[in-house]
Amino acid sequence: MSVAAVARLEAKLLVPTYERQPILFVRGRGVHLWDSRGKRYLDFLSGIGVNALGHRHPAIQAVIKRQAGRLIHISNLFFHEYQAELARRLTQISGLDRAFFCNSGTEAWEGALKLARAYARTKNPNGRKAKWRILALENSFHGRTFGALATTGQKKYRAPFAPLLPGVSFVKLNDLDDLKRKFDASVCAVCVETIQGEGGIRPASREFLELARRLTQRSGALLVVDEIQSGLGRTGRHFAYQHYGLRPDIVTVAKPLAAGLPLGAILTTERAARCMRPGLHGTTFGGGPLACAVAIEFLKIEERLLLHVREVGRYFKSQLEALRQKHSAILEVRGLGLMQAAELSSADLAKAIARQLLEEGIIINRTHDTVLRFLPPYVIEKKHVDQVVSALDAALRDHAPKAVKRSALRRREVHAHA
Ligand SMILES: Cc1ncc(COP(=O)(O)O)c(C=O)c1O
Repeated sequence: MSVAAVARLEAKLLVPTYERQPILFVRGRGVHLWDSRGKRYLDFLSGIGVNALGHRHPAIQAVIKRQAGRLIHISNLFFHEYQAELARRLTQISGLDRAFFCNSGTEAWEGALKLARAYARTKNPNGRKAKWRILALENSFHGRTFGALATTGQKKYRAPFAPLLPGVSFVKLNDLDDLKRKFDASVCAVCVETIQGEGGIRPASREFLELARRLTQRSGALLVVDEIQSGLGRTGRHFAYQHYGLRPDIVTVAKPLAAGLPLGAILTTERAARCMRPGLHGTTFGGGPLACAVAIEFLKIEERLLLHVREVGRYFKSQLEALRQKHSAILEVRGLGLMQAAELSSADLAKAIARQLLEEGIIINRTHDTVLRFLPPYVIEKKHVDQVVSALDAALRDHAPKAVKRSALRRREVHAHA
């Protein structure tokens, strides 16, 4: 079927939640994808951080084939061979004690919020004085379900679905005074993305995370860290919080965990986990044998790639910085490892650059209107970075002068109307 035919059918049959690019992908291999016309693309987005090992990794393929031939699903009412082993590996690399498996990032985040409330209730059984407020961050993103939306600090996602979960206040990222002002004994959880992903690749500062850790520790609240985008090797360490040398109470992961199959996890301390009991939380699909077997394989490979991610990530960032010296339209370069971004001077420019790269067969993503986001597979090499950086250089040369002229024109129009 042609891309036009699929698009026509989807326009008629799907709930309209996405504006897709007019490309029909049919296969992938390593860092490349091919569309239905046979055109090859360099994948610098990895399905939004999911395909961390690229496409059709032979070891992942082998595990899927083997496990699909044995057992795919049994529910959480019975044991299978892989959940405990996967939990063992995840707790070992995270420094936490226990795991709960689910199917997606937002589901992991929902469970984390429930765990924080359950913990607060257990520790503070006195109804009226119970800790229940949640502090989350402005500009954050935690997913699309109601609890996740309620803690997502962006009006555009929240407003259409209000009223949301009560008791959530938003703190400005890296504003120590704002955090101190809003934190009190009624807070049960402080929620942080170690590096805000959808919000434009904005890392939490060391001082901010340390303050969040101190305040929560002192009052018996929990520090809940969303590593759904930044975790599992993306920044060159197993978890981005490990760059800061602290241990949260709850960590959520998902995206790359099962190398493309849906799987998420909540990782937590023994103390927090003990407030749960059978029946309080659950999932039909989460942590099935196929996804867990694949995730074990993913973690074996991820471990071996951490150094590579740090090295190629450093090189990528240095090349983006060099580009910033050349093009004033790049306002800032941010990121760690293979979670990088270039903030441009206008949304129009960012849109034009992302479109041009796509036409040239390079997949990147624009987030927060003005930010070019790069989440390539961990297996990219320096030559792939060079290809992307030189395409960006050319695209900026083509578009930046026009964009500057356009925004100057718009400024004049605004003044004319004022
Ligand atoms: C930091 C973060 N948290 C949560 C989510 C939601 O994950 P999912 O789309 O798997 O529900 C995302 C997705 O982009 C994310 O980046």
